[in-house]
Amino acid sequence: MYNGFFGFKEDPFNLSPDPAFLYRSSQHEEALANLIYGVQSRKGFIVLTGEVGTGKTTMLECLRDYLEQAGVEFAFVFNSRINSDQFFEMIAYDLDLRCARTSKTEVLFALNQLLIQQANEGRTSVLIVDEAHNLDWDVLEEIRLLGNLENPRIGKLLQIILSGQPELDRKLDAPNLRQLKQRIVLRCSLQPLTLKESSEYIESRLAHCGVPNQTIFPEPVLAEIHLRTQGIPRLINAVCDNLLLNAFAVESKTITVDMIEEVSRDMRLEWPGRRLNRVRGQSEFEPTISSRGE
Ligand SMILES: Nc1ncnc2c1ncn2[C@@H]1O[C@H](COP(=O)(O)OP(=O)(O)OP(=O)(O)O)[C@@H](O)[C@H]1O
Ligand SMILES: [Mg+2]
Repeated sequence: MYNGFFGFKEDPFNLSPDPAFLYRSSQHEEALANLIYGVQSRKGFIVLTGEVGTGKTTMLECLRDYLEQAGVEFAFVFNSRINSDQFFEMIAYDLDLRCARTSKTEVLFALNQLLIQQANEGRTSVLIVDEAHNLDWDVLEEIRLLGNLENPRIGKLLQIILSGQPELDRKLDAPNLRQLKQRIVLRCSLQPLTLKESSEYIESRLAHCGVPNQTIFPEPVLAEIHLRTQGIPRLINAVCDNLLLNAFAVESKTITVDMIEEVSRDMRLEWPGRRLNRVRGQSEFEPTISSRGE
């Protein structure tokens, strides 16, 4: 809607986890490098955790791009509210297994054959499970068993990546999952962005849309966005999108702190300083707790 007004080639703040928009903060870079290294070196189980909206699915989409380019077979389970029958059916579809896909025995047999064939050709295979914190216990147990498939010469036949909110870590701490926990060889976690990263994140999305060296969001505005979103990328996107709409409505090419105030109210945003200041009866703009590395 506002793209022409600001000179954007596409929506800078859409909410889809699109690798084309990837902002390579050091932690995102490290997480992606770990995922790729874990797969390449046949590490077995890899766990990626992070709070809601910090970029886990975006990382997995980047990994998917890498696997496609590298010609690695993979299954991507993105709906984790499934039972074990549905789990095997999804894997069979994704890996295009030639078997009766509703029969667990047949799927396991065909999967085993595919993994061995891939391993003989010097390739590995990957299972990616997003939203893994929602997985039922018995599906987690099936995943653990899949992780056992091994060739003594080659190593793990199936590399398994579990991604989810921090509850996943707590779930993996459960006594009945200690066998799975012991098999996790790589862990990565995503934290909210720092103030510097939040500003760079916004700038990189605008640059990707054809507006480098942006002047739409002045520095105090960038700081205020970081404060109110606590450096969570999804929230930053939603706030920036609303701000651009508001600025467009009043034909302004610059965002002001007053606009942030209005958008925060409309979005019912809550942030630590706000509650703190309300209690104290002070201004909402008072600087407050920061998220990481400031
Ligand atoms: N490093 C990044 N570069 C560019 N965009 C990002 C990055 N990290 C997150 N985003 C953006 O933030 C939004 C949320 O990201 P994503 O869906 O990957 O988060 P998530 O951790 O999977 O969230 P949830 O816990 O709800 O599943 C998306 O719009 C995505 O494009
Ligand atoms: Mg996600």
